[in-house]
Amino acid sequence: MVSSDFASPWQCPLCGAPLEGAAPLRCAAGHSFDRAKEGYWHLLPVQKMRTHSPGDSKEMVAARRAFLEGDYYGSFGRALGVLCLKEGQSAFPGQPVKLLDAGCGEGWYDRCIAAAFAKAEQPLALAGFDIAKPAVRLAARALPGAEYAVASSFHQPVRTGWADLVVNIFSPFAREEFLRVLRPGGKLIYAVPGPEHLYEMKAVLYDTPYKNPVQQVEYPGFRAVGEQLVEDRITVPASQLAALFAMTPYYWRTPRDGAQRLSALESLTTQISFRFLVFEREG
Ligand SMILES: C[S@@+](CC[C@H](N)C(=O)[O-])C[C@H]1O[C@@H](n2cnc3c(N)ncnc32)[C@H](O)[C@@H]1O
Ligand SMILES: [Zn+2]
Repeated sequence: MVSSDFASPWQCPLCGAPLEGAAPLRCAAGHSFDRAKEGYWHLLPVQKMRTHSPGDSKEMVAARRAFLEGDYYGSFGRALGVLCLKEGQSAFPGQPVKLLDAGCGEGWYDRCIAAAFAKAEQPLALAGFDIAKPAVRLAARALPGAEYAVASSFHQPVRTGWADLVVNIFSPFAREEFLRVLRPGGKLIYAVPGPEHLYEMKAVLYDTPYKNPVQQVEYPGFRAVGEQLVEDRITVPASQLAALFAMTPYYWRTPRDGAQRLSALESLTTQISFRFLVFEREG
């Protein structure tokens, strides 16, 4: 179950002091932040926004939600839920696991994680943020027991050492901030594409498709402690193909004839593959 009854994960994005209170959130220096009607906080200072509406647009977020709700990535969501149960441990026995989803999008993976904890009857304190307001709005509405904020991975308004477990699914990797917000001994689950992720889609888009390289990247301050490869084959109907395509980095760099070949298909059966990399914060 997701418990809303836990100490606030948030700190002031302007001065770094803890934020307290129900609504608005306030720091000791008097900065205050209102709660949006969907229940999330806007903790991205205007001066740190490079554009007026950073991140994915409302349309991209809606397409992403429709695709994910179709359960095509269900094997990833279920595997992640089980992995979070295994790797997430509170420093205090019996207390909820404090889990932070950095770059949470519209929160589909959070709902999978919350479902896994509910099924196992394990308490969970879940917080997530994303730079895209339309995404956070949908996430907050769908999981009211969780804490959500509009914020940047590179200036996380999260208290130092708050998280037992940080989850990052295809979102920007902010090593220093992940190290700061994790408690010592806390874990990071980082999802990257597996070798054959969407291989058949790439075969439609490109004349010479390639497999993703399997790299063992080292991140100073983290120790690699595990990896899980999750693979499946999915058939995506034409009505969802554009949404899947828009979720991929290929969307931005595919020649027009490739994109046209994809849009002419009635459906596409493709391999999907995620590597869930598990790291432990050293020290
Ligand atoms: C590929 S999506 C993944 C979203 C979600 N984890 C999922 O898998 O459904 C990448 C996400 O990163 C977010 N993002 C991009 N830059 C960001 C930043 N600097 N800080 C926080 N989120 C960011 C985007 O808005 C987008 O929601
Ligand atoms: Zn402040």
